[in-house]
Amino acid sequence: MSVKITINNAVKKYGNNTIISDLSLRIREGEFFTLLGPSGCGKTTLLRMIAGFNSIEGGDFFFNESRINNMDPAARNIGMVFQNYAIFPNMTVEKNVAFGLKNRKTKLPNEEISAKTEKFLKLMKIEEYRDRMPERLSGGQQQRVALARALAITPDVLLMDEPLSNLDAKLRVEMRTAIKEIQNSIGITCVYVTHDQEEAMAVSDRIAVMNAGVIQQIGTPKMLYQRPANLFVATFIGRTNVIKTKIEVADGKPYLVFPGNYRVELKNMISEEVKSRNVAASIRPEELVVNTESNDGIRAVVDDAVFLGLNTHYFVHFTDGTKAEIIQESQIDSIIKKGTEVFLKVKTEKINVFDEEGKKNLIQGVVNDLDEYGAGK
Ligand SMILES: Nc1ncnc2c1ncn2[C@@H]1O[C@H](COP(=O)(O)OP(=O)(O)OP(=O)(O)O)[C@@H](O)[C@H]1O
Ligand SMILES: [Mg+2]
Repeated sequence: MSVKITINNAVKKYGNNTIISDLSLRIREGEFFTLLGPSGCGKTTLLRMIAGFNSIEGGDFFFNESRINNMDPAARNIGMVFQNYAIFPNMTVEKNVAFGLKNRKTKLPNEEISAKTEKFLKLMKIEEYRDRMPERLSGGQQQRVALARALAITPDVLLMDEPLSNLDAKLRVEMRTAIKEIQNSIGITCVYVTHDQEEAMAVSDRIAVMNAGVIQQIGTPKMLYQRPANLFVATFIGRTNVIKTKIEVADGKPYLVFPGNYRVELKNMISEEVKSRNVAASIRPEELVVNTESNDGIRAVVDDAVFLGLNTHYFVHFTDGTKAEIIQESQIDSIIKKGTEVFLKVKTEKINVFDEEGKKNLIQGVVNDLDEYGAGK
């Protein structure tokens, strides 16, 4: 059985130090939910509160309708996987996977233990290593054992804290696909912690972006990327060029003004926000396009060109010195050389424009599941 997790007004303090002051969150049954944020923002702290390894200084935690604040961790029926594999070094792979099943309060019949162990050895593709000791496994294989062991007990919730960060880049990609597939096939509620935004986007149904103990936005990877709620989310999810500039209103229409005085009309601005003002525009590298037809656009000079196969990255500066990165699909015949003057068009329907402090997106269409708690109150 999988559960939904509800957290209302959680508070976490270490001594006098408040790490989380008021955090609310709903994780759906069977959802792959990720806590994403920079180092020290409180991801592990929150995960450990869900697991029951941390004291809770305020608020309520629920698995379905039952309040778990004071429930013993062992009674929460959770599976956990950590960064440092934490499998038992003195047991074979098979014994590791069977461990949780053998140590249940209510004893399981031996046939059931072997059947379940078998199932997860197969699912995690580690059957052939069943008699090996962990020291003779690679990092990726060890992490598969940890995952199989966590899942074998049929937990209601699977909690994972940076499970892939000790693996090399290629294995990380392989393992994240494996984790996602398994989560899909068994439909378990997963709470996943990472500071790697690409990993988060690859595995998650929804992501909560955290900064300094505060959730900034909750949404699907696509929503966070395309319509970030604030500048922090815009810069944390994916790459972006932040351009400090202004909005000028002419004939009631808002125009975004670029260095060199190139301006584009913003047709999708929130109407109450339309007024002449300073703003921070977030323009992703693929939202700037080199104009090959005419000299219309933001005037810029190419400082460097990096060919990466499918795409070529151009690093440019505008007339006022503002630097920006552009990604263009590589052309068969040419790369624009350093020092070349170019003119850049802007994919205005895609870009995001924030107030001067970067606290609010002024463009329509931001979805933030956090709003259901009256965030920003
Ligand atoms: N046992 C503890 N005692 C005191 N302060 C702690 C303790 N554990 C964590 N903290 C503090 O709480 C804050 C959040 O820590 P946490 O480990 O949750 O961060 P994180 O988001 O998991 O970071 P990372 O990505 O580096 O793992 C940090 O400022 C940390 O120093
Ligand atoms: Mg952590």
